[in-house]
Amino acid sequence: MEKIDLAVEILKKGEVVAAPTETVYGLFADASNDVAIQKIYEIKGRPICNPLIVHVSDVERAKETAKFSEIAESIAQYFWIEKELPLTIILPNLNKNISKFVTAGLSSIALRRPNHKISRLLIEKFGSSLAAPSANTSTFVSPTSFEMVKSDLGAKIPLILDGGSCSVGLESTILDLTQKPFVILRPGGVSKKEIETFLGEDVLTSAELNIQAIKAPGMMEKHYSPNLPVRINSLFPQEDEAFIAFGKTNEPYDLNLSLSGDLKEAAQNLFRFLKLLDNKSKFSGIAIMPIPNFDIGVAINDRITRASAT
Ligand code: TXA
Ligand code: MG
Repeated sequence: MEKIDLAVEILKKGEVVAAPTETVYGLFADASNDVAIQKIYEIKGRPICNPLIVHVSDVERAKETAKFSEIAESIAQYFWIEKELPLTIILPNLNKNISKFVTAGLSSIALRRPNHKISRLLIEKFGSSLAAPSANTSTFVSPTSFEMVKSDLGAKIPLILDGGSCSVGLESTILDLTQKPFVILRPGGVSKKEIETFLGEDVLTSAELNIQAIKAPGMMEKHYSPNLPVRINSLFPQEDEAFIAFGKTNEPYDLNLSLSGDLKEAAQNLFRFLKLLDNKSKFSGIAIMPIPNFDIGVAINDRITRASAT
C-alpha cells in the first residue's frame, strides 16, 4: 500500500500522522474528531487552551468552516491559490464539523492551505479538513525534516511521512482578519510588506497592539527552544558556546545560516541548526549572530528571541 493511503487509514481510525508542509512538519488529525484532536495535545504536551490551525485543500472547503468576507476570500485566493504562500488566516468560526478542542473554545478559527504535495494529497485523500500543529514537543524547536520529527516524537506516533527538508523552514504567518486594521499575530513565511502591498493598506503587528496574550494563547514568550540557553545578537561566542553565524565573519563558527547572507536560506536552516548544536555535553549555550530584521528576517528574529527567553 502507498504510504499516503496508509496515512489516510490511520487518520480515519482517529489516530495522528506526522507529515511535511512547506513550512515545518505538522502533526495531523481529523479536525472533526474530539478524541483524535485530544491525542495531538497529549502527544505534544500542549496546553489545551492553545488552539490549532485547520488545514484545508481549497477555498471552497475553508468556506464551509469559517465566515469569509469578500476581502478574506480575495486574500485566500491570492496568497493560497495564486502565490501558494504560507499564510494562516483567522476568521469567525461557523462551528460546523470542527472539534471544540481545535479552536480551544474561541469564536474564531485559524485556516491555512499547505503548499506541499504530501500534506495536500493527505487532505485531499482524507476528504475533509485536518488540524495540525507543528510536530514537536510543546515549547521545543519545530521540525523541518523527517529525522527531527522521528527523534522527538517517533516513539509516540504511528507514522511519519518523509518529504525531505521543508522549503520555508519557519511557520506560516498568522493574519487575524476578525478585527480592523488586520493584525499579524505571528510573523512567518509571508512578510508584512507582501500583505500590505496586496491590501493597499497598513496592517498592525501584535507587538504594536500588545494583544498577544489574549488573541493567540499559543504565542508564549518561551517557545522554539532547544535545551541549551540561546544568546542572540552576539558578534562572537563566549567560552564553550556553540556559534551560529550569518553571512561573512572572521570569528570561527560551528554553523553558518547563510554564507551569502540570504535570509530565505537562513530560515530554512535555523531550526535544524538549533537542534544539531543542542548538545549539553559539548556546549554551554548557543550564540547567534545578528540577523537583519526585514522580510523573513522578522520571523527569524521572532523565533530566536523566543528561543532565548528564559
Ligand atoms: O506553518 C504552520 O503554521 C505550521 C504547519 C504545521 O502548518 N503549524 C503551526 O501550528 O505552526 P502551531 O500549532 O505550532 O501554531 C499555531 C498557532 C498557535 O500559536 C495558536 O495559538 C494560533 O496559531 N492560533 C490558532 N487558532 C487561533 C485563533 N483562533 N486565534 C488566534 N490564534 C490562533
Ligand atoms: Mg508550534
